[in-house]
Amino acid sequence: MAGSDAPTSAEASVGKLVAAARAAREHAVADFSGFKVGAALETEDGTIVTGCNVENASYGLTICAERVAIFKALSEGHRAFTRLAVVADTPSPTPPCGACRQIIWEFCGDIPVVLANLEEVMATLSMKDLLPMPFDKGLLGR
Ligand code: THU
Repeated sequence: MAGSDAPTSAEASVGKLVAAARAAREHAVADFSGFKVGAALETEDGTIVTGCNVENASYGLTICAERVAIFKALSEGHRAFTRLAVVADTPSPTPPCGACRQIIWEFCGDIPVVLANLEEVMATLSMKDLLPMPFDKGLLGR
């Protein structure tokens, strides 16, 4: 509707994805850092698979919210992904760490990554911008 403030269907579906990431963040196991992160991955068929960060006493075996969401989705049989939302309670966007960028690139390709906090969406970046010159199976001849 021209001139109306009603969200478009694309905006509404981003809103749903971000809301799912905010809800997943509530489950974060972040006893060591206190830094809770939620992620929500949209599959090709519109399913939303969520993840949160999970820390443990070794510190080094911590897994980020993004990788939890991707590995959950893969383990449930999903193979094609359209968007990823990441939520942290920070005033500026929290982008995926380097390890997550590699995994997102390899399993999701050049998808948009929506970065939000508890109040608003702050940025949307493409994986190509987040991980320029990636190493992937193309370099292995696969
Ligand atoms: N973390 C994520 O889950 N995703 C990110 O994008 C950045 C960092 C987690 C890992 C760790 O549990 C905590 O945040 C602090 O680094």
